[in-house]
Amino acid sequence: MGKVYYISKNVGLGLLALAAIALATIIALSIAYDKERAKNRGTSGDGAADSTSVPSPSTTPSTPKEPWDHYRLPKSLIPFSYNITLWPRLKPNANGLYVFTGHSSVHFRCEKETDLIIIHCNKLNLTSFDGHLAKLTALAGATAPAILKSWLVVKTEFLVLQLSSRLTVGVTYALYTEFLGELADDLEGFYRSEYTEDGVKKVVATSQMQATYARKAFPCFDEPAMKAIFNVDIIHDRDTVALSNGRDIASEDSVIDGVAVRKTTFEPTKRMSTYLLAFIVSDFISIQSTQSDNLLIRIWARRKAINDRHGEYALNVTGPILQFYERYYNARYPLSKSDQIALPDFHAGAMENWGLVTYSETSLLYDPVMSSTGNKERINSVIAHELAHMWFGNLVTVQWWNDLWLNEGFASYVEYLGADYAEPTWNIKDQIILYDVHRVFAVDALASSHPLSRKEDEVNDPSQISEMFSSISYNKGAAVLRMLSEFLTEPVFARGLSSYLNTFAFSNTVYTDLWNHLQQAVEDTPSLHIPHTVHDIMNRWTLQMGFPVVTVDTRTGSITQKHFLLDPDSVVERPSEFNYSWYVPIKWMKTGVEQQQYWLLQKTDTNSEMRVSGSDWVLLNTNVSGYFRVNYDLDNWDRLLSLLNNNHQALSVGNRAQIIDDAFNLARAKIINTTLALRTTKYLSKDRDFIPWESALRNLNYYILMFDRTEVYGAIQAYLKKQIQPLFEHFKEITANWTKDPTGHTDQYNQVNAIGIACKTNVKGCRELIKGWFRQWMENPQHNPIHPNLKGTVYCHAIANGGVEEWDFAWAMFKNATLASEGARLRSALACAKAPWLLNRYLEYTLDPTKIRKQDTTSTIQAIARNVVGLPLAWNFVRARWNYIFQHYGKGSFSFAGLISGITWRFSTDFELQELKKFKEDNIHAGFGSGTLAIEQAIEKTVANIKWVNENKAHVLKWFTEEST
Ligand SMILES: *[C@@H]1O[C@H](CO)[C@@H](O)[C@H](O)[C@H]1NC(C)=O
Ligand SMILES: *[C@@H]1O[C@H](CO)[C@@H](O)[C@H](O)[C@H]1NC(C)=O
Ligand SMILES: *[C@@H]1O[C@H](CO)[C@@H](O)[C@H](O)[C@H]1NC(C)=O
Ligand SMILES: *[C@@H]1O[C@H](CO)[C@@H](O)[C@H](O)[C@H]1NC(C)=O
Ligand SMILES: [Zn+2]
Repeated sequence: MGKVYYISKNVGLGLLALAAIALATIIALSIAYDKERAKNRGTSGDGAADSTSVPSPSTTPSTPKEPWDHYRLPKSLIPFSYNITLWPRLKPNANGLYVFTGHSSVHFRCEKETDLIIIHCNKLNLTSFDGHLAKLTALAGATAPAILKSWLVVKTEFLVLQLSSRLTVGVTYALYTEFLGELADDLEGFYRSEYTEDGVKKVVATSQMQATYARKAFPCFDEPAMKAIFNVDIIHDRDTVALSNGRDIASEDSVIDGVAVRKTTFEPTKRMSTYLLAFIVSDFISIQSTQSDNLLIRIWARRKAINDRHGEYALNVTGPILQFYERYYNARYPLSKSDQIALPDFHAGAMENWGLVTYSETSLLYDPVMSSTGNKERINSVIAHELAHMWFGNLVTVQWWNDLWLNEGFASYVEYLGADYAEPTWNIKDQIILYDVHRVFAVDALASSHPLSRKEDEVNDPSQISEMFSSISYNKGAAVLRMLSEFLTEPVFARGLSSYLNTFAFSNTVYTDLWNHLQQAVEDTPSLHIPHTVHDIMNRWTLQMGFPVVTVDTRTGSITQKHFLLDPDSVVERPSEFNYSWYVPIKWMKTGVEQQQYWLLQKTDTNSEMRVSGSDWVLLNTNVSGYFRVNYDLDNWDRLLSLLNNNHQALSVGNRAQIIDDAFNLARAKIINTTLALRTTKYLSKDRDFIPWESALRNLNYYILMFDRTEVYGAIQAYLKKQIQPLFEHFKEITANWTKDPTGHTDQYNQVNAIGIACKTNVKGCRELIKGWFRQWMENPQHNPIHPNLKGTVYCHAIANGGVEEWDFAWAMFKNATLASEGARLRSALACAKAPWLLNRYLEYTLDPTKIRKQDTTSTIQAIARNVVGLPLAWNFVRARWNYIFQHYGKGSFSFAGLISGITWRFSTDFELQELKKFKEDNIHAGFGSGTLAIEQAIEKTVANIKWVNENKAHVLKWFTEEST
């Protein structure tokens, strides 16, 4: 599945606290492109809520007695082909239900004697044949035993057949079922998606099988290792088109039950896993191209979207991305066609169904007028991610979900390579540092983190499976595989990978199979030396949680490693067989000269090469290719800071971001002094690049939250103003006084940062500029002159600095918005107002479903709470209405956890802590629903914030005061 972005990528944190607003909403709306996660993600009020996605320890089930009480299939029967016919109805039946009917036949071989057939089946009404839910026959002249009894097991999602005698090993049997299922709007299995086009409601039948929903479309052996060939027929209305994994090879019109229909037959699939199947019936249209090798590439979407050419960008990049992977993997694209389809109302993600990838519209459709640069980059990255799976994941599949990290981590890494190939001028590969490495460091530095790899028997039921779709799997998986590729070198990594893919094509693996093939590639490369086997090196990164901070003392050359924990007082309860020690590959440079890679293999070591003096400096982890943080002796820190001040371009953008992010996190962990962290931001007045700025703004955001209601804030603002002014002027100049776009790809993101911070700190000319744009729009609402990249920032600041007129205009535009992303931008910008009465009125609107849709209530209140003026209003509002909110919104997708973490984000005083505790006591009878854990976490975080503020406030005030003059 696609990767999750909690913080919409590239939005930039330019608005910071005032507009942490926008951020909050963006997080809540974040079109996380992974369905599974999005659904389970009710708790993510802020980026850090990631930490709640830690899989629960495997529960010890009361030993089940019967085979069908286990969640895993017995290994006695192995399927090899299915014939499936499905007929979805796109109109409701007499009872108002949308349904599908179908029949399926599966051929399987008996591997171990058994008198039971256990096959997955969920929420299907099966037709009964002589009182049994299926028909069993034997092939090739053998005879099948009679069915004695058949029944469904709801909990484990099985259909069970008790036979009169045992099946014979080696014999092939056919099991036939007929069924009726609901085509529900639940995004699981075969389901329906609704949307309106030109005022007409339309229905699409579509599917999402990963991880455990194929069993809801037809009875099947629904585990990734139970690969088979699927022959699919779809019956549908003649004015619709049916799609599946293979090319359509025949179609036949007929009349069934008085309905004129068409049956489309698809070519047999390759041998594949059930979770990668896809069935879609719609009236969509497509654009297409054919590659030189006859590969057919199509982009499908709503008629209007295709007619408006919104599929063109996706079509443009798909060919190059596929060609890139064919070369990188040294393996041909395994199928005869590649369909990609944009589904309205598929808010959450993209799914790598083999040959028929499904996307949310925002992840596939590019509108040159309305889409921002960030939207475009997202499309390129998501396509690159999903297409990477066509080989890694689909052609070769992990045996079981415990190894999901390998599948998702891999795609999350190579998506940068594929996307870079399609858009070589974007420097997209650098961004992995921000969006994967630094992002997951935040989660993996907690004592509550968990290892990448889990044991097979720890992951059994569907909820344990969906917990595997975590930030650790995606982002840490990407980071450690990138590190592996870097220390093996890319050609060796690619050779091992190719050998792995070719060896295991159409079958299943465990992660050590990949290590073995990479090890072979190492052994075939005499010039390459690694200190241990791939297996031994990687075990330390995959089997123990966390990562090290590597400390070099350049006065002595001593070098040490230690498990990095953000909270120095936290206690690690999870033991590690490696004692939290890693084999750390260290790329490094001395005074600008790249040195030979060094391996830190113990907790402490000495490398005399790293002893320097005078003006020489040492920098470890060049380009952040390793998954670790770095600390130095104070002298070397000073030399690095003076290098930044004098010639920051001597270091790559990634290393500039690294110095900042490492320093701030080391300071949080009390390993270095807070003022040292702050000093890393001083040189920024000279930096024009996005990645270091973004890193600094993320880190400074915490200071703003803690202090924007105190006297420290004046000094912080003055400092930021001084730092941002040159960046603002720079963009003014390169855009010819804001009349054209910056040409560089990431410059467009940094322009958003520049304007956001400049307006926030009142740099001369900024607010006037924004006001002017917004005025123009108000005068001519049909024509919005604001560039899509800048809309979020401009709306927020125009409303913050405007009055009721601006607010009411934005509200009217919000009510009129037809594009979801535009509506979301306006809805969060409305929370930027400064007048308490406007904010209170807006709070009232949030509980009126005719004004704010129920699903948006939480994120809107959160947005208001993140506005420093709105915080006390929202807190009072929520406390006063808690019973009402709880009763009316207690069920469904309402995120109490998000609400609580949003409101308490800034809490950092004893008084607030007491209020929070009182709130908890007062409502203990009503309860907190999905927010129960969030209350505890909020209390814990508030305690930590109070402590941090007490320890740091005086120094921080002093530092900002001195530096802002
Ligand atoms: C599928 O249908 C074909 C053609 O009728 C038949 O030869 C084959 O045995 C069927 N396979 C299964 C799994 O029923
Ligand atoms: C399946 O059967 C149950 C029980 O008879 C019924 O309530 C349900 O509506 C049926 N499902 C569909 C999709 O018709
Ligand atoms: C797609 O490629 C064509 C041909 O290179 C180009 O003219 C067009 O502008 C591209 N479309 C988009 C949206 O990038
Ligand atoms: C940081 O170091 C400076 C200079 O050594 C010192 O004055 C200051 O108190 C330290 N700050 C903190 C937060 O410990
Ligand atoms: Zn994926």
